[in-house]
Amino acid sequence: MTKIKNICCIGAGYVGGPTMAVIAQKCPHIKVTVVDVNAERIAAWNDSELANLPIYEPGLREVVAEARGRNLFFSTDVSAAIRDAEMIFMSVNTPTKTYGNGKGKAADLKYIELCARQIAKEATSDKIVVEKSTLPVRTAQAIKTILSNNQTSAKFQVLSNPEFLAEGTAIEDLYSPDRVLIGGEQTPEGAEAMEALTEIYANWVPRERILQTNVWSSELSKLVANAFLAQRISSINSISALCEKTEANVDEIAKAIGMDSRIGPKFLKASVGFGGSCFQKDILNLVYIARTYGLDEVADYWEQVIDLNDYQKRRFAQNIISKLNNTLSGKKIAMLGWAFKKDTNDTRESAAIYVADHLLNEQAEIHVYDPKVSESQIHKDLDYLQTRSPEENREMVQKVVDIEQALAGAHAVAILTEWDEFKTYDWAKLSALMMKPAFVFDGRNILDHEALRALGVNVYGIGR
Ligand code: NAD
Ligand code: UGA
Repeated sequence: MTKIKNICCIGAGYVGGPTMAVIAQKCPHIKVTVVDVNAERIAAWNDSELANLPIYEPGLREVVAEARGRNLFFSTDVSAAIRDAEMIFMSVNTPTKTYGNGKGKAADLKYIELCARQIAKEATSDKIVVEKSTLPVRTAQAIKTILSNNQTSAKFQVLSNPEFLAEGTAIEDLYSPDRVLIGGEQTPEGAEAMEALTEIYANWVPRERILQTNVWSSELSKLVANAFLAQRISSINSISALCEKTEANVDEIAKAIGMDSRIGPKFLKASVGFGGSCFQKDILNLVYIARTYGLDEVADYWEQVIDLNDYQKRRFAQNIISKLNNTLSGKKIAMLGWAFKKDTNDTRESAAIYVADHLLNEQAEIHVYDPKVSESQIHKDLDYLQTRSPEENREMVQKVVDIEQALAGAHAVAILTEWDEFKTYDWAKLSALMMKPAFVFDGRNILDHEALRALGVNVYGIGR
């Protein structure tokens, strides 16, 4: 059986970086090289102080500190890493297409194709190529076709090994995954390749948690897992709107229904809406695939999960506007949190971006505090929407250095991310800092609403 000694991972992002760092830590006998075309990102991964790793993830620094330079390497030399490796993970981004056929829905596979072409060009020996990125079902077929253009006698096996880690808990999730999914061709060569990858994970994951399936089930399971998770959030968020009309409390409902073991307690936290780089993109992709097969009812069903999420973000912003007398002109709004969830510096598809955009339409003056997101990132996220000019975004939105600076002179505060320091802050100080009457819009239901009301503050949560 193939014993893997040399791994290459193409893509040093939120998945490639942490995943390979953990493989290297748990398998000191395997050399792991993570490559990326983004030289700045690779330089940050190689930062001697470990202070400027390109992504923030609790526990990541320690893992990189242990393995980097021993058997974990970060490089921009993609070709060399491909040539040397027996197993190549493709961990590049697969965003929603912004042009052409399937615009706004289908996954853009240009980066995956480029990877496959480069592997086809450089490989001079047999390789196991692993899809780590989230891909539409049947992509392995397209990759195989591209790889068949290789000019040598090298043979390729394509495996699907989707990643289920969540940002903010990536290291924990990688250390003890609920399952590791490996899909491969149902042939002796396919089985051998699946075993080679299983061997690697078996260094720290119990074998009964390593699931082998056919390649199509594996590819499709990843999209379905994300669709089901996002669906739970949209379901509870739909109920949050009903709670606000009926004086039912959505957190009490989540607890009550979550105690039914058939429903379960996780992913029932009502919020301003889910964000992140994957839920929306992967559901849109699922919707697109269903439509491609003429399954319009299936497509409509899943599309509703996204529609509800857009509604939730809009609803939150609209509530702020109407409670402040339908005008935000000349009013300072403090926004606490810009990342799409706590413990990450990732802002992709964060609800904060869309809420800010709505508030800016009403000419609000926004002061943002987020412990891990830079001002330039905040401006970049708003510029991307193209609702107003970059100059206007810079004039109307600024980042401040702490909660108090955000609250000082603010007419309202909106909580967009559930950072722990927002929960533990001494909110009794608010009365001295904010304009009166003070408004708090808790988009994450993390504050003690009764205590705030006792201070004379107007508090609005999600579904309570
Ligand atoms: P990312 O944008 O953080 O990282 C992707 C990296 O790939 C970038 O640094 C980019 O420069 C690099 N890249 C692109 N094309 C390249 C090429 N041809 N050669 C070398 N490098 C190239 O993306 P991510 O968040 O790590 O996501 C990667 C994939 O994993 C996506 O398919 C995503 O859906 C999936 N996924 C993400 C998460 C998550 O939590 N972020 C979790 C599970 C799965
Ligand atoms: C999600 C999945 O949880 C991972 O399993 C998957 O691997 C990943 O997508 C992916 O494919 O990229 P992630 O997006 O990193 O992970 O973060 P989540 O913890 O799932 O949170 C997503 C969004 O939902 C966040 O904005 C979060 O605040 C929100 N959320 C989550 C809620 O509003 N309520 C909840 O109960 C849970």
